[in-house]
Amino acid sequence: MCGIIGFIGERQAQPILLDCLAKLEYRGYDSCGIALAGNSLKVYKDAVRVDKLAKTMPLLSETVGIGHTRWATHGEPSQVNAHPHCDCGGRIAVVHNGIVTNYQSLRQKLTAEGHNIVSETDTEVLAHLIEKYYKGNLEEAVKAALRDVEGSYAIIALMAGESKLVAARKDSPLIMGIGDRENFVASDVPAILDYTKRVVYLEDGDIGIVTKEGVRIRRDGREVTREEHKILWNAEQAQKGAYEHFMIKEIHEQPKVIRVTVAEYMANTESVFDLTVTSGHLDTMFILACGSSYHAALAGKYIIEELAGISARSEIASEFNYSSFIPARTRAIAITQSGETADTLRAIKRLEEAGCRVVVITNVVGSTASRIADRTVYIRAGPEISVAATKSFIAQLMALYWLALSYSKVDIRRLDNLIKGLRQLPGKVQQVLDNEDTIAELAGRLSVYDNVFSIGRGVNFPIALEGALKLKEVSYIHAEGYAAGELKHGPFALLSNRTPVVAIVAQDNTREAMLTNLKEIKSRGAPAIVLAEEGDEAVEELADSIIAIPSVDAIFSPVINVVALQLLAYYAAKHRGCPIDFPRNLAKSVTVE
Ligand code: G6P
Repeated sequence: MCGIIGFIGERQAQPILLDCLAKLEYRGYDSCGIALAGNSLKVYKDAVRVDKLAKTMPLLSETVGIGHTRWATHGEPSQVNAHPHCDCGGRIAVVHNGIVTNYQSLRQKLTAEGHNIVSETDTEVLAHLIEKYYKGNLEEAVKAALRDVEGSYAIIALMAGESKLVAARKDSPLIMGIGDRENFVASDVPAILDYTKRVVYLEDGDIGIVTKEGVRIRRDGREVTREEHKILWNAEQAQKGAYEHFMIKEIHEQPKVIRVTVAEYMANTESVFDLTVTSGHLDTMFILACGSSYHAALAGKYIIEELAGISARSEIASEFNYSSFIPARTRAIAITQSGETADTLRAIKRLEEAGCRVVVITNVVGSTASRIADRTVYIRAGPEISVAATKSFIAQLMALYWLALSYSKVDIRRLDNLIKGLRQLPGKVQQVLDNEDTIAELAGRLSVYDNVFSIGRGVNFPIALEGALKLKEVSYIHAEGYAAGELKHGPFALLSNRTPVVAIVAQDNTREAMLTNLKEIKSRGAPAIVLAEEGDEAVEELADSIIAIPSVDAIFSPVINVVALQLLAYYAAKHRGCPIDFPRNLAKSVTVE
């Protein structure tokens, strides 16, 4: 949720930390701060964005420091609650991502022992605990402090007079980056891509010791080695380039993402989805995820059932975690762009504990999900920076199509057509993107409304949900995604000329019912914005506005429709002057349950 960074080297740490923090802001951006260590500790922090903090700081020459960009959980965004947090002596600083669940009792105990805790955060107790246990060795003090801590954490500790960073993690991501006589710790790869592509992933229970000469890992009192990974993403992929926002850049990358992801799966047909890892007779395929990834999972249910003839059950990971019954002989797929969403990770662990083997679909190599899965299938979306997911959603759909096709029960002619259809998708998506100006103009008209419904049926029902989510996230319009058949079971009471309905009319067995819905909507005076194939006369008669969609096999229509809805949300947000890449209160990676 929060972004953390540590740097140690021969260069000035301050500009590097600020630069890395700016790249981490997508993980949280309500406050930020840095601490630099020389003979004393210097801490600068506030409830502002990184660029603003940078302007308030003098130039500092220290070559070691840590930084943090926050997504508040305990305590409102304020200067005192911003990280880094320090001990009483002001010699130890800590940045933290995660939640210390027993912080109240630790706080009471430390206060009784004379520690002066000034913030409302759970993190500050860590700095005081390290101070309490410090007997001349920072690494040992961090280890001792963490023994008292319950909950999840990725932390970096820094101490005045010590030329090293000490890092540790539990259920929260943390990597070490290896440079040339300079090294890094970060919560995420994009933060350090400009400086190095060599990374080592820390495991739960590891203590990472980072000096300018190198990185070491200690565990259970012993030195351990971990494989070094080379990151294939490049720094440009994590930059906006000529685009105004990451979201629109990433929307435009989608034809390429489809091409790259599908090409990779086609080249490795046999091995991509080796579901034999989920051995045994198959009753049901579980597909678990959160947020936009859940909408991909829900679309996956329709896709897998139709193409592979396998019964599928999509569940929101957080809710799945409350179900007490996990059927035996279950195959499961977990979908997570970041590979770090806490609820999804918990669901994976529960399934595995119940004897079920799990295939993870993720975008991030080396992510926690990929490391705990029985098998990992990567989508090739490249770094996704915009908080609102777009290209990762499309790539997840590609993975699900490929999975379904790998287990396809359709006849060979349809299979050929489907593969042909998959290959044509980048061009079809491009056609939607070429219609950007028209969609932008329509978004301008939509942007004046406060409430919108978004409806679809069948495989486009999840797309209606995703379209509504995009509107909510970036334009702050209250948008409700609905299964069109449910409209008359309540939402009709809200229809008026002030509540536009965005309707997806696909060329499949849902079409007639969608046309009936449109008539019902029209007779209640609600403006209807309809996504439909070009030249659909029946729709033209009923719609107030039409977004023309290129013709594709109906099973692929979610891909085309969602791109149009992403553009609609983006431009509605732009018309409303919203901070599109940094929506209020949201974060890209939700590492707390
Ligand atoms: C957050 C992000 C969403 C994302 C969801 C699940 O809410 O803002 O864009 O869909 O988390 O994330 P995951 O990384 O598990 O796909």
